[in-house]
Amino acid sequence: MLIRKPGDILPSDITPPEIYRERRRFMQGMGVLAAGAVLGATRDARAGAKLAGVRASAYKLDEERTSFKDATTYNNFYEFGTGKADPAASAGSLKTRPWTVTVEGEVGRPRTYDIEELLKLAPLEERVYRLRCVEGWSMVIPWVGFPMHEIIRRAAPTGNARYVEFVTLNDPRQIPGLRSHVLDWPYVEGLRMDEAMHPLTLLAVGMYGEVLPNQNGAPIRLVVPWKYGFKSAKSIVRIRFVEKQPLTAWMRATPSEYGFYSNVNPEVDHPRWSQAKERRIGEFFKRDTLIFNGYGSQVAQMYRGMDLKKYF
Ligand code: MTE
Repeated sequence: MLIRKPGDILPSDITPPEIYRERRRFMQGMGVLAAGAVLGATRDARAGAKLAGVRASAYKLDEERTSFKDATTYNNFYEFGTGKADPAASAGSLKTRPWTVTVEGEVGRPRTYDIEELLKLAPLEERVYRLRCVEGWSMVIPWVGFPMHEIIRRAAPTGNARYVEFVTLNDPRQIPGLRSHVLDWPYVEGLRMDEAMHPLTLLAVGMYGEVLPNQNGAPIRLVVPWKYGFKSAKSIVRIRFVEKQPLTAWMRATPSEYGFYSNVNPEVDHPRWSQAKERRIGEFFKRDTLIFNGYGSQVAQMYRGMDLKKYF
């Protein structure tokens, strides 16, 4: 997000599959990938497996879904590189088992969950959401997951819990990119308590009916559809309930450009580009960006009386 001016992204910027395959061949030829990793470089053993018992939900959209290929090869996951094709090429090194998520801080019932427990915590449902990246592109993705409030309720937050902080895996052995200084790792995001409790806020474990590919944030990630995509932290290991507003990785890096709220808002420009329009991946012409990414009727009341230019 520091790297390019997203208003300029063209459909041709999406790495065509042939180039992606070419890159893989090149890397294999160079012996960069270990023999065993060649076949599964972009997915671990579980990624790609169908998720059983997924319920349909009321969260559907009358909009064309982004292709699985685009959604899994055009990614932002800076721990695996800043190029859009980098996460798909490199995230095979992420080991998603064993995996635990620790829920702690201002809660009556702190707990460390094994990922297998989380998969059974609440019924899994499919929810088709728009994802609008702050860079000016968007997608429509059928996520599979359960609402964040399922975890919050079980944690029994104390009266001091005003915000929730999300922390991503910080293990340079699995993610060599963490040795770089693109951001001050780990990737941290945060929500206000009412935002975290909102029924739209999802913890996703899959997409397109399958286990989440590593590059999309396996084994568990946040999805907050009315906020810019960077709020949706990937590969979460820690959920901390806190009294003070968390300092997110992007606020730490560039506070003048990335605020805590980061609600999609066509009237509040990024300091370096307009947010009025967006390019839906797979389409040629730009479309208007919608306030709160089109979810205003469900979320606007949380921000009543707030100056959204100030609290960007
Ligand atoms: N989570 C982590 N841990 N690291 C990241 O770099 N990038 C964010 C978000 N979550 C990011 C992250 C950004 S900028 C976007 S737009 C979305 O992930 C992209 O999600 P997708 O690749 O599944 O479309």
